[in-house]
Amino acid sequence: MTAPKVLLGVAGGIAAYKSAELLRRLTETGHSVRVVPTESALQFVGAATFEALSGQPVHTGVFTDVPSVQHVRLGQEADLVVVAPATADLLARAVQGRADDLLTGSLLVARCPVFLVPAMHTEMWEHPATRANVATLRERGSIVMEPASGRLTGKDTGPGRLPDPAEIAELARLLLERADALPRDLEGRRVVVSAGGTREPLDPVRYLGNRSSGRQGYALAKVAAQRGARVTLVAGHTAELADPAAVEVVKVGSALEMREAMHAAAKGADAVVMAAAVADFRPSSLAEHKIKKDGSEPEALHLALNPDILAELVAAREPGQVVVGFAAETGDATTDVLEYGRRKLAKKGCDLLLVNWVGEGGAFENTENQGWLLGADGGETVVPNGSKALLASRLWDAVAARLA
Ligand code: CTP
Repeated sequence: MTAPKVLLGVAGGIAAYKSAELLRRLTETGHSVRVVPTESALQFVGAATFEALSGQPVHTGVFTDVPSVQHVRLGQEADLVVVAPATADLLARAVQGRADDLLTGSLLVARCPVFLVPAMHTEMWEHPATRANVATLRERGSIVMEPASGRLTGKDTGPGRLPDPAEIAELARLLLERADALPRDLEGRRVVVSAGGTREPLDPVRYLGNRSSGRQGYALAKVAAQRGARVTLVAGHTAELADPAAVEVVKVGSALEMREAMHAAAKGADAVVMAAAVADFRPSSLAEHKIKKDGSEPEALHLALNPDILAELVAAREPGQVVVGFAAETGDATTDVLEYGRRKLAKKGCDLLLVNWVGEGGAFENTENQGWLLGADGGETVVPNGSKALLASRLWDAVAARLA
């Protein structure tokens, strides 16, 4: 298989320095990347950096390498165009259909997915001119990422930060897997997603935990936010994952804390997805001080049953609210994964259940995932193997269809 061709446009903002890391991530995951910066981007990062990291020449204007008609060829050949950062000026020029440099010329020619990742000061992002430009670009089919909030170049904070390069790379890969993975069909919706594993404390330093990385729940939150939803992510323990852009993150520890956070967030939400690996049991008592060894046989550990948060959310479901569960199954000698999934859907009473096969090489700690999406209406869809973001996009398709 030939490497997917990505055209990485870089506009002239301070966040341009992060495009070098994005480039690295894209090349390391097997993409062939051609970097097309604007003249002003080169004020921030030298062409040599992009050339060395991409292994390809770097030009900004339409008058270099004229015989190969670059300003047409690069856009035509690309499987994906990513512009990160996309400044307010670049967005405005894209709206006008300018073609006065290689990047804007390529944008006019590209017929592949165009993924624009804005980064600018909050005032610029919120200005009616930029709002209108973003709306126009989205209407025309470009995917314009919601920026992250946080510290900007100066002392100011607010929306406008370039999202984490790992998140941009993850969504870029998603668009190569599925060009229509990020429609704005959750605009005006509020969704809640749980992720990661809970930690059930035994004493001040010890806990019972599980192997959940939280990646699937984080992917769900990222994809929902980029489809226009207001997202609350209730996160237990995860691998080291950066907060997704445009997502409110609520960190919790134990199942009981997750239960409280989920009930609070679910009020008035359009959809609630339990992707967390909630511990079924917790130590029945929490030692006030660290448990010490004294040479004698250790005491047996007594466990208490945790509440089933998903079942409680189903019981408290508001009219029209869509509740989604996950089932991690290994199957056994008598019953296969799908059959266990069907039984769990019936038992839990949720609207949708995503059934994963787990075990050696299965979903946990893995970047890929596959399974079946079962509906209370009897619908069964195979979710083929792909990134966790791809699975997330399929799940939100089903949720959006139920909300419509
Ligand atoms: N879940 C939950 N609260 C729990 C346990 C699980 O909300 N205390 C949710 C999970 O987030 C997931 C779904 O329930 O969405 C399925 O979890 P699972 O552990 O597979 O189901 P169980 O009912 O525990 O079934 P079993 O252990 O028998 O497979």
